[in-house]
Amino acid sequence: MTFRISNITIGCNRSCELGKMRGVLVFALLALTSWSSVNANLDWWQTMALYQIYPRSFKDSDGDGIGDLAGIENKLQHLVDTGIDAVWISPFYESPMVDFGYDISNFTAIDPIFGTMDDFDNLVAMAKSLGLKVIMDLVPNHSSDEHEWFINSLASIDPYTDYYIWMNGTELENETIAPPNNWVSGFGGYAWTWRVERQAYYLHQYTEEQPDLNYRNEYVVQEMKDIMEFWLDRGIDGFRVDSIMTLFEDATFPDEPLSGTTDDPTDYDYLLHYYTLDQIETYEMVAQWRELLDDYAFKTDNVTRIMMTEVYSNLSMTLLYYDYGAHFPFNFRFIRSVDSSSTAQEVKELAIDAWLDNLPGNATADWVLGNHDNSRVASRYTPEQVDALNMINLLLPGVSVTYYGEEIGMEDESISWEDTVDPQACNQDEDSYESNSRDPARTPMQWDTTTSAGFSTNESTWLPVNSNYLTLNLAAQIDADVSHYKVFQDLTTLRKETVIQEGTVNVQLLSDNVICFSRELESSSEDAVFVLTNFANNTETVSLDVFENAPDSLVVYIASVNSTLTAGTAVSRSSVEVSAYAGLVLRTSTDSSANVLISTATLTLCMAFLVSLQF
Ligand code: GLC
Ligand code: MG
Repeated sequence: MTFRISNITIGCNRSCELGKMRGVLVFALLALTSWSSVNANLDWWQTMALYQIYPRSFKDSDGDGIGDLAGIENKLQHLVDTGIDAVWISPFYESPMVDFGYDISNFTAIDPIFGTMDDFDNLVAMAKSLGLKVIMDLVPNHSSDEHEWFINSLASIDPYTDYYIWMNGTELENETIAPPNNWVSGFGGYAWTWRVERQAYYLHQYTEEQPDLNYRNEYVVQEMKDIMEFWLDRGIDGFRVDSIMTLFEDATFPDEPLSGTTDDPTDYDYLLHYYTLDQIETYEMVAQWRELLDDYAFKTDNVTRIMMTEVYSNLSMTLLYYDYGAHFPFNFRFIRSVDSSSTAQEVKELAIDAWLDNLPGNATADWVLGNHDNSRVASRYTPEQVDALNMINLLLPGVSVTYYGEEIGMEDESISWEDTVDPQACNQDEDSYESNSRDPARTPMQWDTTTSAGFSTNESTWLPVNSNYLTLNLAAQIDADVSHYKVFQDLTTLRKETVIQEGTVNVQLLSDNVICFSRELESSSEDAVFVLTNFANNTETVSLDVFENAPDSLVVYIASVNSTLTAGTAVSRSSVEVSAYAGLVLRTSTDSSANVLISTATLTLCMAFLVSLQF
């Protein structure tokens, strides 16, 4: 297409014409900048919609029934279509797979199950070309017992001798030796394992195949920093740091006090973990890693490399990671502090306000609904609540974190004792394994109705495909007029608007069961967005009067699949009907897509100027 720009400039010689055009161009660019100022004051990660991929379960490219890196690469377009900005991939390092990749035998190699280093490089290159950031899992607390560091440490070969935490044990009167103290592993059982070769116990806060590294050894500290640099050099944008809270243990190894909640000394809940969690040196190590990341950005391209920490600790110890340099610790309040039995008031206070009101100044909030260690949202809450919870997750300020499959509301699958593979469940017996198993939330992604839900050409997959895949799958939800996926897409589109990225937040309880929060720009109340979520299994009619700036009439902008009110319906501020477990996004009828069209037109005009003037 050719634009004849000269038609719109009148009575002017060429140099004057050029000057005018430059003026118009600058004006147009300014207009464009002000529209795209969405991220003006915010760094790329502060508004990201992050998506977690559990690589064994996302997409199998070679038909062995286990997902792999090439499979992920093939499906990156799905993330773009879903409105995702960044992907965090759970571990794909070389591993004996006792804890499915969280037991690493080589921190700078890819496990052949997942592919090759070339596959990794291709994946990163493809992600970059699609505008997606890639975040890796860093597992600093432990290695596999098959790592050469551990093999050398077992044989007391320097410098590896003290790479792990070895203790002599306690000699009993009958000349037997007992573990050095009462510490228990997070997966149950004692946290100490005896090795005849070294005549000593080593510490493991997880399985005995995951010996804890000793961060009081300067070589270990350096090794982990080198590993971070190795992957940064391969183009990644940051790390999700696994199990940060267990990094250091008290150096004097005291017994932990009894919690009084169980009599079983091998149950993790038997003890209060004063000496094995949240030690101050752990925070100091986080600060060193932050320095490394900042230095890396400084000496390369000035693009922030981020660190997000996995922490299951109390609120203050969790938030403290912000102060020590984590870009954010995962906010697990929707996983650990509330569930389907919680009232709306509890959800508001314990899951939303507790985080927002206690964030250190300038900190970026984040919201996590699920991950590979916990039941899926549809099962932990109810399938009817999926959209409402995604509204909360995607429209509150800051980072949203979505576990693969949650965009279509995947559900837990019950896995038989015979099919169970999670070490946390295999540690139990047939009667009790289910409450500890993480397998139900790790079943393959449900793409479509073909073999193994389109996850693999193999009918047999590492965990069984959920039997509901014929009706619950991505392809069906793309075809449907209304679906969880379509709601999710509408939410990620809205999320890109300035009002969601930068707007203030005001959270209110409108009734016993309905929470509503507004997102507003100080400059314009016209753009305000109101998000209503009903936590009860009955319809509620509520008023927005508590929001002083709410306009008298609003329109339903996005509605959950179970909402009686559908998108486009006009509602009055004083009486809004919210169906059972439904979610509604309301706003004034200003059509924001018009802004995008105007801006696109401005951009086209600028390009035309440039072309015609042969800039
Ligand atoms: C983290 C991971 C979990 C793993 C554990 C040990 O909690 O999320 O999957 O089992 O660390 O590495
Ligand atoms: Mg440790």
